[in-house]
Amino acid sequence: MNTVMLTGVAGFIGSHVGEMLLERGWRIRGVDALTDTYDPAAKLRNLALLDHSPLFEFVHADLATADLRPLLDGVDAVIHLAAEPGVSKSWGTVFPTYVNRNVLSTQRLLEAVAERPVDRFVYASSSSVYGPNSGTMHESSVLAPLSPYGVSKLAGECLVGAYAQERQLSSVSLRFFSVYGPRQRPDMAIHRFVEALLDGRPAEIYGQQVQLRDFTYVEDVAAAVVGSLTASVAPGTVLNIAYGDPVAIPDVLRMVEAEIGGRLDVAQRPHRAGDTGRTHGDSSAAREVLGWVPTVDLATGLARQVAWHRALRQRPVETVAAAGPVAADVRRQVL
Ligand code: UGA
Repeated sequence: MNTVMLTGVAGFIGSHVGEMLLERGWRIRGVDALTDTYDPAAKLRNLALLDHSPLFEFVHADLATADLRPLLDGVDAVIHLAAEPGVSKSWGTVFPTYVNRNVLSTQRLLEAVAERPVDRFVYASSSSVYGPNSGTMHESSVLAPLSPYGVSKLAGECLVGAYAQERQLSSVSLRFFSVYGPRQRPDMAIHRFVEALLDGRPAEIYGQQVQLRDFTYVEDVAAAVVGSLTASVAPGTVLNIAYGDPVAIPDVLRMVEAEIGGRLDVAQRPHRAGDTGRTHGDSSAAREVLGWVPTVDLATGLARQVAWHRALRQRPVETVAAAGPVAADVRRQVL
């Protein structure tokens, strides 16, 4: 049986990747610093389904400081999803946090892997590495991030490329496009719109110009990550992971209204620096290399996300948080 080290396991995407890895028979060493970017209790809840598996081990550790050698012991592959997220909030004095978590921690992990090689290194990159683009984004399109966050993710991707070229790292970097679905981070658009409607609050829309996003369902993204572990690839491969159908934000609001029932009032807010006008990813390389095709359209994925929001409101948080032994133990230490 093969073992994968999965960083950021308690995050939105990481927890889905973990569940898919277990379904496919992988053993997981899940690492997470449980940073307070959002409520660590919510991150522990994300572990609920992993927590009961004998194939899952949770390590509460920060990649910036932890001794990484023992963490890589017995590991065949690394999936590196841990990062400081958030496009518009990456300006100003918080930037060192982005540098530490997205650049320096990535470099530290790459050095550790150079010392103790693994069969495959999968890195979570982002559509935010691209510059403003009114057409389709191909892997060869101009890279000119509009936000400090995008710069930090591109730096991480470039580091992975350097280790692939010069240190024999077998890597795949996946550029995710606006991932959504159950457990989506609370700062993200669909999460905010659903919660606003369920609470009877107005939704906030940023910018005068209509923005479009190529929303990609989290289980499709997880399938690309897991597929990247074993696909035959050239070192330093970079792939877009996008559904391929940009949707305007006001149309997303309407879909949320249709799914939940009711009307969302809209509070218009100024443009947020770093928000690009439109994303649209071409994923034909991922289809060719991984055999990856997205399967979940926005209406279906949105219905699943809304069901998750509703379920969370019906269950007492304490019960969910204590769902598994690891979560309960870490919860005692962290919260
Ligand atoms: C998302 C993630 O937050 C990033 O971590 C990720 O790297 C990026 O996707 C990616 O594709 O690479 P973004 O698409 O900007 O970034 O995520 P959202 O916060 O969900 O925003 C989507 C759009 O909705 C933006 O145009 C934003 O301005 C708008 N929005 C967001 C609103 O109008 N109102 C809100 O309350 C929230």
